[in-house]
Amino acid sequence: MSPRSLEERAARVLSPVLGHYTWLEVDHGEGSWLITKSGRRVLDLTSGIAVTPIGHAHPKVVAAVQAQVAKLSHICAGVAAYEPNIALAEALGEITPGDLDMVFFGNSGGEAIEASIKLVRQVTGRESIIVFRGGFHGRTTGAASVTTSKSLYRKGYGALLPEVHVAPYPYPLDCPITPAHDAETCGQHSLAIIEQMLDHDVPAEQIAGILIEPVLGEGGYVAPPVSFLQGLRALATRIGALLIFDEVQTGFGRTGAWFAAQKFGVTPDVMTLAKALGGGLPLGALVAPRAIHERWRTSTHGSTFGGNPVSCASGLATLEVIRDEGLVQRAELVGRIIVEELAPLNRDPRVREIRTTGAMAAIEFTDKATSKGAIAGALDRDVLLITCGSHDQVVRFIPPLNIAEDDLRNGIRAFVEACQTAPVGAPA
Ligand SMILES: Cc1ncc(COP(=O)(O)O)c(C=O)c1O
Repeated sequence: MSPRSLEERAARVLSPVLGHYTWLEVDHGEGSWLITKSGRRVLDLTSGIAVTPIGHAHPKVVAAVQAQVAKLSHICAGVAAYEPNIALAEALGEITPGDLDMVFFGNSGGEAIEASIKLVRQVTGRESIIVFRGGFHGRTTGAASVTTSKSLYRKGYGALLPEVHVAPYPYPLDCPITPAHDAETCGQHSLAIIEQMLDHDVPAEQIAGILIEPVLGEGGYVAPPVSFLQGLRALATRIGALLIFDEVQTGFGRTGAWFAAQKFGVTPDVMTLAKALGGGLPLGALVAPRAIHERWRTSTHGSTFGGNPVSCASGLATLEVIRDEGLVQRAELVGRIIVEELAPLNRDPRVREIRTTGAMAAIEFTDKATSKGAIAGALDRDVLLITCGSHDQVVRFIPPLNIAEDDLRNGIRAFVEACQTAPVGAPA
């Protein structure tokens, strides 16, 4: 009897609620590569959804994690103090924008968002949050309340958090307003709609926070114009609300700056971090200036595992590699290579747009059948990719920032070949 596949075994014991892009059976990772038990090598252009910015099993991260786990894996940051927790917070303060130099650690992006909702509500004494259509902030109930990338994420869950007000994200390809216009116009339009919301839906003095992904992640890898983020900054200051940048996906060099805030030159009041923060281990954080943290009352929020020693050691080692190897700067090169290699698809009628912000690159197709067909064809050629966008019509490229140039070029060429040979309208 042949051994059952992991997919077959999972079908008996794992909840089908978790959607799967693939059932590739991974045994281990080496840098930009995933290796199956049978020795098949697959190029990972997902970085585990933006979690492993320096690839898998980087020797410096492995050494840091092994050393830490052998010393202390848990005590709870609220029970006793330990070096990696403080050291990572100190290191974050060196790279975050403006005076955002005080940290609260959790375990995930969703938890960081929960913390940000609680913080802005308590600190401002207000309740309402403005969010942007297409934003993804997590799956917990609070985070799902501010998430609008797909209505599927709310299906059957009933009433979520009240006082969430949704404004349009500047995404010209998804804008119902005709004639076709550029991102700048879309951004001005969105700012005008928010002013209307303040006149008609919710008074300005009730807005606790304005929460936005500075580049839309799950919603389609779309960057807004700088003028739009500047407009939000001015608006938040004017009405006394706190501006929250969700940098869970954009952080740690991905956009060509440590954080998108620096890339766009707009400093928020609060940043949420996760994914690459832990360098492969679970870790989330909320970062804000001391003056804001001091108004968040002690013991009204907390976490058992948040900022655990091993995740912090992993995060610190990862941050040091990104810094010491100049990988923030390299993100621009990574993005340029992707766009160069995608060029043969420029005139493909199924392609609506190829776009990149640093190493956050994407190709938007006219339909989901094409994007799904393309990533299936790429996997047949040993390249792992995933989609994004409200209809999964976008393929996103999230390679490790230290990926070898040849590997990246060959991986994108394999994807292009898969697109060129995929039948038009292949089944999703
Ligand atoms: C921008 C953003 N915020 C929050 C989250 C939620 O993070 P987690 O899955 O760690 O809860 C994600 C996850 O994809 C994300 O991309």
